[in-house]
Order: sequence, then C-alpha cells, then structure tokens
Amino acid sequence: MMTADLFADDPSQPAQLRLSSEAVLLKGFALPDADALLNDIATITQRAPFRHMITPGGKAMSVATTSCGELGWVSDSRGYRYSSTDPQSDLPWPAMPARWLDLAERAVRVSGLSSSGAPDACLINRYAPGARLSLHQDRDERDFGAPIISISLGLPAVFLWGGDKRSDHTQTIPLAHGDVLLWGGVDRLRFHGVRPVAQGALSEREFRFNITMRKAA
Ligand code: SIN
Ligand code: FE2
Repeated sequence: MMTADLFADDPSQPAQLRLSSEAVLLKGFALPDADALLNDIATITQRAPFRHMITPGGKAMSVATTSCGELGWVSDSRGYRYSSTDPQSDLPWPAMPARWLDLAERAVRVSGLSSSGAPDACLINRYAPGARLSLHQDRDERDFGAPIISISLGLPAVFLWGGDKRSDHTQTIPLAHGDVLLWGGVDRLRFHGVRPVAQGALSEREFRFNITMRKAA
C-alpha cells in the first residue's frame, strides 16, 4: 500500500512506486523530454485542435481533448469509440511522434510490465484549473494486453486510483510534471480519474496536459 510520505521532498524518494501488482509510477521519468513533449503537443494541436467533446449523456467534457496516432478516441451522442479520422476535419489524426513511441517503449521496459505491442492510439488531455475527469475504465480498446502509458505535464494533479468496481475505494496519487504512470495486466481495467485541477502558483503553467498512449486495435 502506497503512503503519502513516500512523496516527501527527500532525496531518497524512490524513482519507481508500485501502486499495485501491475501498476507503476515512474516519478519524473519524462522530465528530460518534457519541453520537447510540450512542443510536440503544440504542433499536433495546430492540425487537430483541442475540443470539448460531448459525452453520450449530452454534457461537454471539462477536459479538452485531441489525439494522435493511427486511432483517436472520440465521444459524441452515439457513445465512446476509436476513429481513424478526426471528426472535426475528417482527416487522419496527426502521427504519433517517434519521441513518444520511444518514451513509451523505455517506460514499459523500466516498469517491467508485460505488453502485447506498441501503442497505436494516443489521447491528449488538457486540463484548465477546475477541469476534472470522473472515475472511468479505459475499455474502448480491442486489446487489453498492453499497458496504458500516461504522462503528466504542466500543473500538478491528484489522480484517483480505484479498483475493478466503480464503488471500490480510491487511493489519491499526486502526479507532477514529468511523471509517467503505467497500468496493465490484472490492473488494466482499474477505475481511475482526476480531481479538479487547482490553479497553478506559476503563471507560466496554465494547464495540466496528459498524454495517454494505448494499444487500441
Ligand atoms: C485518462 O484517464 O484518460 C487521463 C488520466 C490523466 O489525465 O491523468
Ligand atoms: Fe482513462
């Protein structure tokens, strides 16, 4: 069981924290790539801008999303699904940058989690202060054999790590700029979410971004 004091500001802080048997938090693993990742997001969103998708229930998501890779996650009144084209432009999603695939490969290797293959879909989330993501499972993918690889950038957030049922207890996990969280195997369908993001102290950080790579097909 992970406890809050593992996150104390202490040079002996472990770089790798196991949340459960097949869920691993790599603290700061993406820090060396963070500026380049943010630049990549800026390039991708010139072609596939952030938008607030409508849930099947008819509400606009507080999180703004877009995608890159062969498949992108979309939501509308018909439901959630993966699409090879951006419904706003009818064009293919921008390619997943080689740097992202390389980072995913390294993170999976370091985490020791098993994987059925490289990600082919990447959801990019942008959280303005106040935006949140309610508890959900990532279950629109056809292949659950690869871990979810989730990179946090910008403003910090509190991640909710639940169980296999929505009603299960949730642990709160602080996620900071550069952290990489992976969950696969027996933990692949865990419920998870993000608490409303707090206003940043640093004026240059207006948003939290999350890059979530998945193997969808
Ligand atoms: C997600 O579950 O799609 C995103 C999680 C996060 O923003 O950390
Ligand atoms: Fe998710």
